[in-house]
Amino acid sequence: MLLVTLACLLCSVQQSSGQFPRACASAESLRQKECCPLWPGDGSPCGQRSGRGSCQDVVLSRAPLGPQFPFTGVDDREDWPSVFYNRTCRCVDGFMGFHCGDCKFGLRGANCTAQRLLVRRSIFELTGAEKDRFLAYLVLAKRSTSRDYVIATGTYAQMGNGSSPMFRDISVYDLFVWMHYYVSRDTLLGGADVWRDIDFAHEAPGFLPWHRFFLLLWEQEIQKLTGDENFTIPYWDWRDAEVCDICTDEYMGGRHPTNSNLLSPASFFASWQVICSQSEEYNSRRTLCDASAEGPLLRNPGNHDRARTPRLPSSADVESCLSLTQYEADPMDKSANFSFRNTLEGFANPLTAIADSSQSSLHNALHIFMNGSMSQVQGSANDPIFILHHAFVDSIFEQWLRRHGPLQEVYPAANAPIGHNRESYMVPFIPVYRNGEFFIPSRDLGYDYAYLIEPAPASFQDLIRPFLEQARQIWLWLIGAAAVGGVVASAIVGLGALLCRPKRKEFSEERQPLLMEKEDFTGATYQTNL
Ligand SMILES: *[C@@H]1O[C@H](CO)[C@@H](O)[C@H](O)[C@H]1NC(C)=O
Ligand SMILES: *[C@@H]1O[C@H](CO)[C@@H](O)[C@H](O)[C@H]1NC(C)=O
Ligand SMILES: *[C@@H]1O[C@H](CO)[C@@H](O)[C@H](O)[C@H]1NC(C)=O
Ligand SMILES: *[C@@H]1O[C@H](CO)[C@@H](O)[C@H](O)[C@H]1NC(C)=O
Ligand SMILES: *[C@@H]1O[C@H](CO)[C@@H](O)[C@H](O)[C@H]1NC(C)=O
Ligand SMILES: *[C@@H]1O[C@H](CO)[C@@H](O)[C@H](O)[C@H]1NC(C)=O
Repeated sequence: MLLVTLACLLCSVQQSSGQFPRACASAESLRQKECCPLWPGDGSPCGQRSGRGSCQDVVLSRAPLGPQFPFTGVDDREDWPSVFYNRTCRCVDGFMGFHCGDCKFGLRGANCTAQRLLVRRSIFELTGAEKDRFLAYLVLAKRSTSRDYVIATGTYAQMGNGSSPMFRDISVYDLFVWMHYYVSRDTLLGGADVWRDIDFAHEAPGFLPWHRFFLLLWEQEIQKLTGDENFTIPYWDWRDAEVCDICTDEYMGGRHPTNSNLLSPASFFASWQVICSQSEEYNSRRTLCDASAEGPLLRNPGNHDRARTPRLPSSADVESCLSLTQYEADPMDKSANFSFRNTLEGFANPLTAIADSSQSSLHNALHIFMNGSMSQVQGSANDPIFILHHAFVDSIFEQWLRRHGPLQEVYPAANAPIGHNRESYMVPFIPVYRNGEFFIPSRDLGYDYAYLIEPAPASFQDLIRPFLEQARQIWLWLIGAAAVGGVVASAIVGLGALLCRPKRKEFSEERQPLLMEKEDFTGATYQTNL
């Protein structure tokens, strides 16, 4: 059954989004510094002929940076994406994507004009079939080569300043692992010198918007790969958890019976190979991660250093963090006090909001707790728990946005660490998106979290009132009918049954190929080499 599911998924539309568009990974494109691919819908660059967008110069922000990175002109990610490209597609209206072929988050339809709202739910609230489908999507993404994107396997200088391109294919899942590595990797300064105190997505204000965008792209990617346009990332609510309750074979993989650092052979993820996990080796070889397989996923939940992270975060920790009124505070890095971002990221004590380098709290606590692939920043996205964890972190960010209703100006415009100013373009995405664009409510990006949707009793009653009204009328009518004679009532019931039956059948046929029965799924876990 799983084979059938995957086969069905494989033959559906395959398209991807993320890092270097394949169409721009040529010496010609790099020489011209232009990444404005043709939109297949009309064969014009950026879908210009159809009014989707046009090829435009990339205008860089000149706002001053913080003092944390004391170099210029040494890292390809500085002034992203100008080392590689100075012209990219700028899409208009509801369009987005490297050739303006996609709809902006929250829009759909041929012309990207219809609004939609998708709801991310707790992984424990998914039905068995929905949960199995999610796992099947992960497996599919790990095995499907990205059609539209490739990764860079060398620096711009190693590519002879673009004259000898170094790019390679990557799977849809690993594309995102690589992007997370690339954004957080160290700077190779030449010779044996390496600068480690740099990160374009962590330890500074961009942490929350960057991961928000990353998850939205990931979600969009899975939607395109599987044709399941309503797919949403499930989240893991880890508040007050005492153990990793998603670390079972039914969910994200249990523990191996004899080697506690590995996953149980009954989990799909036991056969996964990690990439980009050997940062010190890349540094000593002065290369980038080239996405070669580096061994199995490692995870040993709870075996971490308990002096650093005594327990998983509590509801009180989250609540205390949410009460912080400042999004960011000087010096806008991991030493910031009273910064909501720094506290949620986990570099400050959640109860006092004072930075504490001896502890890993909130977001960081989960990474440390997993004691394996999740625990090193650069390779952490190898573990699919990363996605569930970051969805929950994003939901806390969303709660803060709702509670404090910040203006765009609350996000720092200047003097943040490199890559983190409001108008900085987020590394390593093409085309370009600014940090500030994702410092907005999730509903404006077309999604919400099930647990944040007000269960207001009044609105629930509003919702069911029409049904109650209908039921009341039917009752009155039935009582009336009963008075006339039971014959009429039973005829209605019979007719109702007849009308319902074909409908239910149609529903189950339609859904069957995507659903997996529990027992089929369990049987298939032992043959994951599909
Ligand atoms: C973009 O780069 C190309 C190639 O180096 C150069 O000729 C062109 O002047 C640049 N354009 C801008 C706007 O910087
Ligand atoms: C999309 O726009 C085109 C051109 O304006 C129009 O012909 C077409 O009917 C629109 N399609 C939809 C589904 O709105
Ligand atoms: C690449 O550009 C740098 C800086 O402009 C220059 O020093 C270097 O010689 C160039 N390398 C090649 C292979 O063209
Ligand atoms: C997605 O949801 C919309 C709105 O509920 C529905 O009309 C559409 O059929 C759904 N698509 C799929 C593929 O289930
Ligand atoms: C696991 O935790 C131990 C301390 O309990 C630590 O020494 C080790 O580095 C951790 N491993 C990983 C991969 O985080
Ligand atoms: C944060 O607060 C601590 C304790 O008051 C203080 O020692 C430290 O200097 C402060 N850090 C910053 C960056 O202000």
